[in-house]
Amino acid sequence: MDVKIGVIGAGNRGCRCFGRYISERDDARVVAFADPNPERAQGAAELLGIEVNIYPDTEGMLAGEALDGVVITSPDHTHEACAMAAIDKGLHILIDKPLASTTAGCVNVIRAARKRGVEVFVGFNMRHVPLLRRIKEVIDAGEIGNLMVMETREFYDGGRSYMCRWNRRREWSGGLWVHKGCHDFDVQNWFNSGGEPVRVSAFAGINALRPDAVPFEVEPEQPVGPNCTVCAYREQCPDMYPVESRLWSDETAAVDGYHKDLCMYTSDKDTHDNGVAIVEYDNNVRASLLECFIANFSDRLYTITGDRGTIMAAVKTPTQFEVRPRWGEENRIIEVPPAAAGGHGGSDPRLVESFVDSIRTGAPYESNLVDGIRAVAMGEAAELSWRDHRMVELSELVDLNDPSLAG
Ligand SMILES: NC(=O)c1ccc[n+]([C@@H]2O[C@H](COP(=O)([O-])OP(=O)(O)OC[C@H]3O[C@@H](n4cnc5c(N)ncnc54)[C@H](O)[C@@H]3O)[C@@H](O)[C@H]2O)c1
Repeated sequence: MDVKIGVIGAGNRGCRCFGRYISERDDARVVAFADPNPERAQGAAELLGIEVNIYPDTEGMLAGEALDGVVITSPDHTHEACAMAAIDKGLHILIDKPLASTTAGCVNVIRAARKRGVEVFVGFNMRHVPLLRRIKEVIDAGEIGNLMVMETREFYDGGRSYMCRWNRRREWSGGLWVHKGCHDFDVQNWFNSGGEPVRVSAFAGINALRPDAVPFEVEPEQPVGPNCTVCAYREQCPDMYPVESRLWSDETAAVDGYHKDLCMYTSDKDTHDNGVAIVEYDNNVRASLLECFIANFSDRLYTITGDRGTIMAAVKTPTQFEVRPRWGEENRIIEVPPAAAGGHGGSDPRLVESFVDSIRTGAPYESNLVDGIRAVAMGEAAELSWRDHRMVELSELVDLNDPSLAG
């Protein structure tokens, strides 16, 4: 069986992740792109060397193609509407994280899916990182005892690709705690599989990626930006963003005005560049997540402690992590086989493989609608918390025990 997939959103992920890894398979192919910018969709097809039909919207693609499945990888605020259309057709669906940009949007998607009798795969690719899969095995085997406290620290080099695009605004991304944090909240939920998150507190701010913090002298008569491509200071700015392909060329951007290289200092953003969130679960587990977009490196660092030991790991050290037993035994280094090639530590092709295999065999999805809403609700709670200066109960946003949401 040759699985026929339509990709909704022919941007970075639609082309370089899903387009690429589906096209590299023998048992699946991309047959159509839906994207309001036909230049970008055509550019993606050319980069991939594939022939596809191109549609300006999801509805047109669903009406014009006989598909086995769709991948939704358009901007976050469009996931809900795209998902509703695909659910209506009863297709296999993978939604790149987040499930939707709001908890209410997730509820709408889940109710529609339950009514139509379809499950949806939520694209939490971090669950496919070999290092994190091995850590989960160690936790599940009880090697650190009962899980008690987890810390994730995410550093993202400079924030360049975040503050220059649609994800810089909460109305389009849900805010950074939803857009980016949902990955990390999901991994913590996955590690703590026996617990439900109950409440969240967060602090955050936009303190470095601001107009008054550009890293060079600005002449009064010469403004900065608006894009790196045309900025008068592009030669001296250490954060100049190279626009590298036809997907983002001036010709393509002329169609919809979507430039990928807005100045990350002067762009009209309302998502934070640094913050800390704390989560309390219903099983005596607590977790924290640091998001730092002003470092000169990218990594995710983990400390996970149970009543018999602690795990320490870093995604940028993917072939080993350390287990420090609480008593007696020596600290142990656990070796992890190197990941296969591919984006996000080899996890992107595994994500695609898992989706295609589920379509072919009916195997359950790795991460589903409930995983999706749980992570978004935590992110939205964190957004409310730092903006309103208060602790937020998840029950304000959703009842995760509501039977109409359960699988
Ligand atoms: N899992 C991960 O590691 C990961 C990493 C990055 C991004 N993402 C997610 O992938 C998705 C896409 O992100 P990206 O970085 O590729 O964005 P992008 O800006 O590179 O591409 C988005 C594309 O969607 C198109 N689009 C806009 N509105 C649309 C609509 N209504 N229907 C169809 N297409 C539409 C745009 O024209 C553009 O081509 C987002 O949901 C993002 O959160 C996931």
